[in-house]
Amino acid sequence: MTDAEHLFTPRDFLRRAISRFTQAGLFFGHGATSALDEAAYLILEGLHLPIDQLEPFLDARLLPDERERLSALIEARVETRKPAAYLLHKAYVGGAPFYVDERVLVPRSFIGELLRSEALVGGEGALIADPDDISSALDLCTGSGCLALLAAGVFPHARIDATDLSPDALEVARRNVGDYGLADRVTLHEGDLFAPVKGRRYDLIITNPPYVAESVMADLPAEFGHEPVMALAGGVDGFDIVRRILAQAGAHLEPGGGLICEIGEDRDILEAEYPDLPFLWLDTEESVGEVFYLPAEAFTPARPENARPEKSRRSRPAEATGAASASRSTERRRR
Ligand SMILES: C[S@@+](CC[C@H](N)C(=O)[O-])C[C@H]1O[C@@H](n2cnc3c(N)ncnc32)[C@H](O)[C@@H]1O
Repeated sequence: MTDAEHLFTPRDFLRRAISRFTQAGLFFGHGATSALDEAAYLILEGLHLPIDQLEPFLDARLLPDERERLSALIEARVETRKPAAYLLHKAYVGGAPFYVDERVLVPRSFIGELLRSEALVGGEGALIADPDDISSALDLCTGSGCLALLAAGVFPHARIDATDLSPDALEVARRNVGDYGLADRVTLHEGDLFAPVKGRRYDLIITNPPYVAESVMADLPAEFGHEPVMALAGGVDGFDIVRRILAQAGAHLEPGGGLICEIGEDRDILEAEYPDLPFLWLDTEESVGEVFYLPAEAFTPARPENARPEKSRRSRPAEATGAASASRSTERRRR
């Protein structure tokens, strides 16, 4: 007898999935942080139910084809070690759904949460006081296009460029841009970092580049093996691409603009290497010191003392912006 013949309700499948996942020693970090989170996501999304409402459906009776489907999804998660997002072709970031497959990293950037937080945009003392002030933005290393599309939602008057070196990733991004009907405002470019947008400047640059160090790459759980290497690998200490971004960002920021960059857990390396850069660390519900903000002025050479300073469109809090609220536990992730 198969599992599907013994299990009848979402509660049954939830219990079974948690047992199987735990027994198999799966890794959770691609949209969930525990076996319970992962199982709930697989079951709710597998049944096309709202992913944040498990309780009302726990004891509903399922049709035979639904039971077969859940059974197959649970087995596939264990046997293939593919993150649930790849099995379901869907991931949520900042509360918004995106199509994904193995051509792109499973979206889980903390920048998604930040973009939706009033501490960053629109709230009292926020770095970006008024979202209408952002008329141009660049998402470097866009992957599935998730951050570019979230930014388009948060900054309604912005035109957004999004770049990626991977033509495969850009095909996924193109699909998402189409799904959101935003092709008129989000433009995708293939190429190395800033190369496709040479000479252009932006009010805001956001980026979640590859930043996994070589030694960490060697030890990643099997789930990461399904993600593109070029979406993860950042060279010996992880910061090959981050250094290139820091070297070039200034030439692509408008006066008063800023760069938001996710870098993972090794901020000490950057702070030691760039002692003159005033990194402002933006914390989220799930991260401390993994995303920095740098204003455009941080990149410009020192001005003559009597020169008039540029008028900044940002307010500048002295401290990091503090925790922004994560909308769903299924969005919690690490890499
Ligand atoms: C960590 S993923 C981020 C994807 C997406 N922004 C997200 O947060 O889910 C990094 C992306 O950078 C791209 N990439 C790697 N090297 C690049 C380069 N030199 N220039 C542009 N994109 C690059 C990869 O193809 C991958 O899509």
